[in-house]
Amino acid sequence: MQELEVSLNERSYFIKIASGLLNDAGALLRGISRNNKVMLVSNPTVYSLYGQKALDSLEKAGFTVHVALMPDGEAYKNMDEALKILDEGFACGLERGSTVAALGGGVVGDLAGFAAAIYQRGIDFVQFPTTLLAQVDSSVGGKVAVNHPRGKNLIGAFHQPRLVVIDTDTLSTLEKRDYYSGLGEVFKYGIVNDESFFAYLEEQVEQIAARNKDCLAYIIYNSCRIKSEIVAADEKEEGWRAVLNLGHTFGHAIEQLTGYGSYRHGEAVAMGTMAAIYLAWDEGLLPEEEASRIKELYRKTGIPIVFPELNPEEVYQAMLNDKKVVNGRLRLILPAGIGAFTIRDDCSKEKILKAIAKAQSDCQAVKFGG
Ligand code: NAD
Ligand code: GLY
Repeated sequence: MQELEVSLNERSYFIKIASGLLNDAGALLRGISRNNKVMLVSNPTVYSLYGQKALDSLEKAGFTVHVALMPDGEAYKNMDEALKILDEGFACGLERGSTVAALGGGVVGDLAGFAAAIYQRGIDFVQFPTTLLAQVDSSVGGKVAVNHPRGKNLIGAFHQPRLVVIDTDTLSTLEKRDYYSGLGEVFKYGIVNDESFFAYLEEQVEQIAARNKDCLAYIIYNSCRIKSEIVAADEKEEGWRAVLNLGHTFGHAIEQLTGYGSYRHGEAVAMGTMAAIYLAWDEGLLPEEEASRIKELYRKTGIPIVFPELNPEEVYQAMLNDKKVVNGRLRLILPAGIGAFTIRDDCSKEKILKAIAKAQSDCQAVKFGG
């Protein structure tokens, strides 16, 4: 088993990573739980695959478990569904010392975590992530949220989990599209934070496409390592943590404009990253050769990115709803060479529109994924 600590003083917690680890989830939770009641939040897709395993493990460790299922899909990451989960918590007698356990991808994790953050002013919460995206990103760091029709993740909190249990075996059942969506988040760590990790990804494109187990274990561990360091240094995103939003302001706008569900989060982020690369190049921050290396990584791994035919002006307007807008100005994370980044709030609207249009045409012309 591999182990990492997210160091946040009294809110520090461990990320445990291993094949088959869901079988030990109950025993791992036993060591930190405050009482014996757990509400296991999942969706029907994930629950039918891994619910029994999680339930057996928790019950074997002496927990009384109530299962609460939300419908599957980003379109359900909203206040209505969060309220239903809270209702289930009240109905099953969840107490202040009880635990909410999220079993699923980023959607389940974000919504269950949000419910835990506001249930009786906040109760314990643990993550059992089952998608690549959740294992490398969303289960770590305590950002929990639901969407609002006006924008993505606009209602939420910072509420750290008390434990993250990553069973890498769960990735074997993941659909190809969801696997690639997770890679979209993996690549960002290399692009803006860690050149040697980027070089590893470049070298391993074939193993990545083949879901080689050793390669995945390396990717998950190192993604969590990088994210843990960033979160420990800047929990509330006052500085460095913003780097994790590479491509996200563009991507969130695409998700919102296409009704939350047409595109996977990682796909939208990949499209947004293309726009960020072009803008960084146009601003003289990213040399042509490095921009090409990044695009090649996406192309070779075959992440499916077909930018929707949205009017760039419409994308720009939707971007203005982003949480990172300061005094009406967009704050964008731009790659400044591989392994480096800069935050800019002075890019002209004209250049941003140009970057969106260029990403649209690039994503068609380069035919990522096809
Ligand atoms: P998701 O949760 O919708 O999961 C994708 C699909 O895979 C779903 O249909 C799900 O039911 C299914 N699934 C999950 N595990 C499976 C498995 N092991 N086998 C087969 N199918 C499985 O999507 P996601 O990509 O995991 O997460 C996206 C969400 O994460 C977005 O809402 C995004 O905003 C959020 N996110 C949050 C953070 C954060 O820091 N909190 C970071 C990145 C992304
Ligand atoms: N996924 C962005 C963050 O956790 O900050």
